[in-house]
Amino acid sequence: MTARNLNIDGQRLLSRLKALGEIGALEGGGVCRLALSDEDRLARDLVTSWMRELGLEVRIDRLGNIVGTRPGVEDGPPVMMGSHIDTVRTGGLYDGSLGVLAGLEVVETLNDAGIATRRPIAVAAFTNEEGARFAPDMMGSLVFEGSMSVEEAHAVTAVDDGTTVGENLARIGYEGVAPCGAPALHAFLELHIEQGPVLDEEGLVIGAVEGVQGISWTEVRVAGVSNHAGTTPMRLRHDAGYVAGATIGFVRELASLIGGDQVATVGRIELYPNLVNVVPGSCTFTVDLRNSDEECLREAEQRLHAFLDDLATREGVEITRHALARFVPTRFDEDMVRLIERSAAALGHSARRLSSGAGHDAQIIARACPAAMIFVPSHRGISHNIDEHTEPDHLVAGANVLLGTLLDLAD
Ligand code: GLV
Ligand code: MN
Ligand code: MN
Repeated sequence: MTARNLNIDGQRLLSRLKALGEIGALEGGGVCRLALSDEDRLARDLVTSWMRELGLEVRIDRLGNIVGTRPGVEDGPPVMMGSHIDTVRTGGLYDGSLGVLAGLEVVETLNDAGIATRRPIAVAAFTNEEGARFAPDMMGSLVFEGSMSVEEAHAVTAVDDGTTVGENLARIGYEGVAPCGAPALHAFLELHIEQGPVLDEEGLVIGAVEGVQGISWTEVRVAGVSNHAGTTPMRLRHDAGYVAGATIGFVRELASLIGGDQVATVGRIELYPNLVNVVPGSCTFTVDLRNSDEECLREAEQRLHAFLDDLATREGVEITRHALARFVPTRFDEDMVRLIERSAAALGHSARRLSSGAGHDAQIIARACPAAMIFVPSHRGISHNIDEHTEPDHLVAGANVLLGTLLDLAD
């Protein structure tokens, strides 16, 4: 068999996805595998055991990023495939896992066919892509690529229990010894579910991703005054809950005001003391703003800050802000996008170019080497939800496009 008519083993890919999806499985479907949790540890154990079975040389760095490498005929920088295996609290089976396990499937397909590639190839599972528990998101790829120091990442605290990344890495046994920063890579490819509605609505199978929109995450802390809900006249209130509610309303208007592809979300909110008969004295909430145009994103941020300043004065509360994550829009490598389109066409799959609304490790690794992404459809565009679904045929199609593109890059 020549490399050009190779196909991945769809059943094997699907059964690995199923096995990984059993770790942290939630009742009713989906998974909870928050970064550096016990479930994350078990998932890492499984993925590294698969890597070793496939003969990959496994390297774990000081932030717990896992990289399995298959030698090439020649030495030199590898072509890397990969994604992440952590999830949000209400995650689906494919967000992240598909990119890692399809990478393993590509390796096993090449092993079975006895095909050696000219360049080495590698499969990566990056730590804490989701940022649901430790901000920023894409933490592992940021440290791997060198934009964030290991020390800074180790010191980040969890939103739920205040423990640090470093403590949790040690606890689950995944603080490796390999250094991070400035990797030599020939190219990076990430297969991922779209997590949006475009491919599904248009009945297409493959997305050749041209870029990722900019992301701005802010944590807002409001200090007001707790008081009796029955006795405190409205004019005397310094209500932290009101500030959160008004901001939720404001960001919805902000998105229409900025227009284009601007999106805006308040996704986490904690009220104190959170009781029926007490005016909330303090509140912490987050704002997620995204836009593919950096200037528009900056304008959205400025308007949000002006709104909060004005609201603080009107309500007589103190508002402090903390930037959790900030990524400018990313454009992927044009030649790689074309290779993906070509590989999809060669397999007879319908495809289009599109841009990503979600953040991905590929947007960070794109700072180090040419990078691009392959998308497959998400049923009704639903993701970060236990009902996230991609048709098995589409998962397999995406993995075959990954294989074809990988072979172009590695030979
Ligand atoms: C990561 O999934 C993000 O886009 O928030
Ligand atoms: Mn993801
Ligand atoms: Mn995600």
